[in-house]
Amino acid sequence: MSTLTAEPALSPALQSLYAPIATELAEVETIFRREMHHPHPYVDELVRYGCLLGGKRLRPALLLLTAKAAGKIVPEHLTLATVVEMVHTATLVHDDVLDNAQMRRHLATVNARWDNEASVLLGDYLFTHAFHLASTIDSVLGCRLIGHATNIVCEGELRQKGTRGQFDLAEEEYLQVIEAKTAELTACSCRLGALFAGLPADQVEELDLYGRELGIAFQIADDLLDLQGEEDATGKSLGTDLEKQKPTLPLIHTLREASPADRAQLLELLGSEQATPATLAPYLQKYGGLDYARDRAQAIAAQSRRRLDCLPPSPSKDVLLMIAEFVVARSH
Ligand code: IPE
Ligand code: IPE
Ligand code: MG
Ligand code: MG
Repeated sequence: MSTLTAEPALSPALQSLYAPIATELAEVETIFRREMHHPHPYVDELVRYGCLLGGKRLRPALLLLTAKAAGKIVPEHLTLATVVEMVHTATLVHDDVLDNAQMRRHLATVNARWDNEASVLLGDYLFTHAFHLASTIDSVLGCRLIGHATNIVCEGELRQKGTRGQFDLAEEEYLQVIEAKTAELTACSCRLGALFAGLPADQVEELDLYGRELGIAFQIADDLLDLQGEEDATGKSLGTDLEKQKPTLPLIHTLREASPADRAQLLELLGSEQATPATLAPYLQKYGGLDYARDRAQAIAAQSRRRLDCLPPSPSKDVLLMIAEFVVARSH
């Protein structure tokens, strides 16, 4: 069977988690498919391969759940949910080139199956398609907010590139980078859900902060998975943070706490080709680097849950609360 005919496979666990928005999420999937169909066979195969398979659909789910918990889902939400997933996918396609990653969503990356050129062009195609689609709704606000958020995501990736090899990076700076590259889009998704549901400004701000803190916790957990996750579960290449010399929280903390002798040894190891999760393990263990990062992620996720106090009780709110637990506990 061609992989291109397969339905996007949301795991049974995610299907039941997203139950309050199942119908609307399916509509978003339909819009996505419609938008990503192309008459030229080469473009069609690339575009469908790159976007329609797998993925947790976290950002459209956040947008729709926020909208539903805030009041109701309107047609603009469906378009904007498709747009945020398209932007997210574009960032992944480009990110896999930056990280020289071979696997994504349980399949060969576009750069592995085609090449870097195809990935650059596909990412551009997705970004531009997303903004064109966002411009089809009457209000310019969606386009403006997604444009701004996407710009900050790219800024985060650029800042991250500038921190390569700087394992003594300040924790605060690491947090700023992950807020930009990951949390800005989850914040924007929640903001759009709240805004287009007609919530007042102070609640929109709270829900932006929910998405922002959730995104920061999500990326800390992702950085932990890069060190100690299973590729079979995540469906993507792991260990690329070390290969690309990215300073992440477990290492930042370990270096900060290490004795001068351990610190010197660890820096030497990190600068060599021998740096692997296994060779780093004794240092991470001794100074509690992994536990520290997990505790930080948990505390930030707990903070994000408190932002939801601004919403009345509802099944969608319950799911938003659960997502803030899932992002830290996840294995994929
Ligand atoms: C991966 O995001 C990129 C990060 C921000 C860590 P997801 O883990 O949400 O990727 P998909 O959409 O489920 O594949
Ligand atoms: C997230 O960083 C990248 C984006 C925000 C696009 P990672 O490089 O850690 O993401 P994964 O692990 O490849 O999914
Ligand atoms: Mg990556
Ligand atoms: Mg990662």
